[in-house]
Amino acid sequence: MLLHGPNGAGKTNLLEALHVGTQGFSPRARSDAQMVRFGATAGRVTLRGTNADTPFEADVVLATGDARRARLNGERLASAERLRHELRTLVFTPDRLAVVKGAPATRRAYLDRSLGRLSPARAALPVEYAAAVGQRNACLRRLRAGSSSPAALEPWTERVVALATALVLARSAAIATLAEPFTEVAGALGLDSAILGYDGVPPSVSELNARLERDLDRGLTGAGPHLHDVKLEARGHELRSFGSQGEQRIAVLALVLAEAEVLRFRGSSPPLVLLDDVLSELDGDRRQALAAIVSRGCQTVITATAAAALPAEPAQTLTVGPGVVR
Ligand SMILES: Nc1ncnc2c1ncn2[C@@H]1O[C@H](COP(=O)(O)OP(=O)(O)OP(=O)(O)O)[C@@H](O)[C@H]1O
Ligand SMILES: [Mg+2]
Repeated sequence: MLLHGPNGAGKTNLLEALHVGTQGFSPRARSDAQMVRFGATAGRVTLRGTNADTPFEADVVLATGDARRARLNGERLASAERLRHELRTLVFTPDRLAVVKGAPATRRAYLDRSLGRLSPARAALPVEYAAAVGQRNACLRRLRAGSSSPAALEPWTERVVALATALVLARSAAIATLAEPFTEVAGALGLDSAILGYDGVPPSVSELNARLERDLDRGLTGAGPHLHDVKLEARGHELRSFGSQGEQRIAVLALVLAEAEVLRFRGSSPPLVLLDDVLSELDGDRRQALAAIVSRGCQTVITATAAAALPAEPAQTLTVGPGVVR
């Protein structure tokens, strides 16, 4: 589906609403107040669709200063983000360039969300690991202050190591699943020899014990997957430092589309793919390649300022103007 209209018409707003309505949160707004119409105190997204041939209705209510509320088929969900477990949506927005350009923490966060979608049973691992590191750090600080004994640290070290091992395994498995389609999609979009990899190994108990003096000084656990990185390279060079703007964009796009390729064959229905402003910085050949990839099977919504930017005939074209969609 193509959404087109001039700058400021509301295309990204509409895409954002699709994301909020299917995932329970916005890919761009930092607070709900940003999503509620100026001058109003509440907003609502109601979506009707089919998932694995079964009709569904999702409803998310946003109110300034109140928690988001969501219903799926009339039933209240414990939290709006529970929608993520029911409906799958992948999104590219220009902000996502931070996945390539930004700090390792942004790549880790992106990978952990992918990991949750690719293997839902392991979705809680990143949070469990972070909680264990937090507890161990608190224990390190008590030890430094003399209010705890080294023996009290031991169980935390063991727990951190066990969860670190499981997390690195899960992350590596997610990367291994995405690596081939990533290289393939990036190649089709003109970014040759692109490589996706995981950079880090889980720490052992003896490694953490060996660095105890340093960790006590800082009150922080100084090794583990909370410090690892995702490797993104093309033609042997790190894209973060050496990629052009367009190449970095293609890499992020390839990450999203590679995951869509994988998810398409997993679960009961393909994910919804939202691509905001992807066409603007791609040359003609790359637009053509993108159009071929997105017609492979996921329902995809693409925004553009001009309908002609998409070199393919979309199944549906919506013209977006301020306050109206035709
Ligand atoms: N909370 C809000 N209430 C009302 N209007 C808002 C709110 N937040 C943003 N807007 C306005 O919505 C308009 C449309 O924004 P949107 O980002 O969807 O445009 P767009 O069609 O994607 O434009 P572009 O082609 O430049 O990306 C903007 O003019 C913006 O000021
Ligand atoms: Mg926009």
